[in-house]
Amino acid sequence: MELSDLIFTPLGEESQITTFDCGLEDITSFLQDDAVAYQAEKMANTYLFQDEKGTVFAFFSISNDCLNDLGDEHGYTNNIWNRLHRFLGLSNVKRIRQYPAIKIGRLGVHKDLHGSGIAYQLMDFIKGWVMIDHKPACRLLILDAVNQPKQVKYYDRNDFKFLLKSDESSKTRIMYYDLEKLTP
Ligand SMILES: CC(C)(COP(=O)(O)OP(=O)(O)OC[C@H]1O[C@@H](n2cnc3c(N)ncnc32)[C@H](O)[C@@H]1OP(=O)(O)O)[C@@H](O)C(=O)NCCC(=O)NCCS
Repeated sequence: MELSDLIFTPLGEESQITTFDCGLEDITSFLQDDAVAYQAEKMANTYLFQDEKGTVFAFFSISNDCLNDLGDEHGYTNNIWNRLHRFLGLSNVKRIRQYPAIKIGRLGVHKDLHGSGIAYQLMDFIKGWVMIDHKPACRLLILDAVNQPKQVKYYDRNDFKFLLKSDESSKTRIMYYDLEKLTP
């Protein structure tokens, strides 16, 4: 199965989310128990990939965000910001410590499709799709990656970078992707 065989649709009250299982309880239960309320409260919008019977095989939730300097005590040293600024190549912009971003709050692929490559098609889709008709400027895709080898490998292969060293042994790590990479 390819991602393009599936139907892309916003989460709705009628969506069949109870059979979805991505193998990580926190992420599965977000979709099943919380995503509708997050959407209603305008805290995160969730989008599904489902077949013609409505079976959900992948989803992601996104919201507007900002990569923001939280100060030294959180590991946001001058070095971090200088490195980020250089990485983004923002030579014509005054150095700032707030970068407009879109946050991928949650993302999951049905466990039967792990290893199929669909997760990579999903990330390619997200990177392109967030740029379409997005009125406020947005430079970064950001997320809190579950700090486990499988998840970190997945985001690394999708060209996401770690922001900090100080969260190396935390449960989650902040990662970012420069959306400017998509501009020819
Ligand atoms: C994280 C998740 C989306 C990754 O999907 P996955 O299919 O398991 O992804 P993997 O990185 O294991 O990749 C599987 C295989 O696809 C292959 N692949 C296919 N297309 C690829 C591509 N374009 N680029 C790189 N690898 C590709 C790889 O070779 C890889 O096999 P390998 O590990 O033997 O080299 C999925 O495991 C998931 O939904 N997990 C539960 C929820 C979760 O953790 N969400 C993220 C929270 S931060």
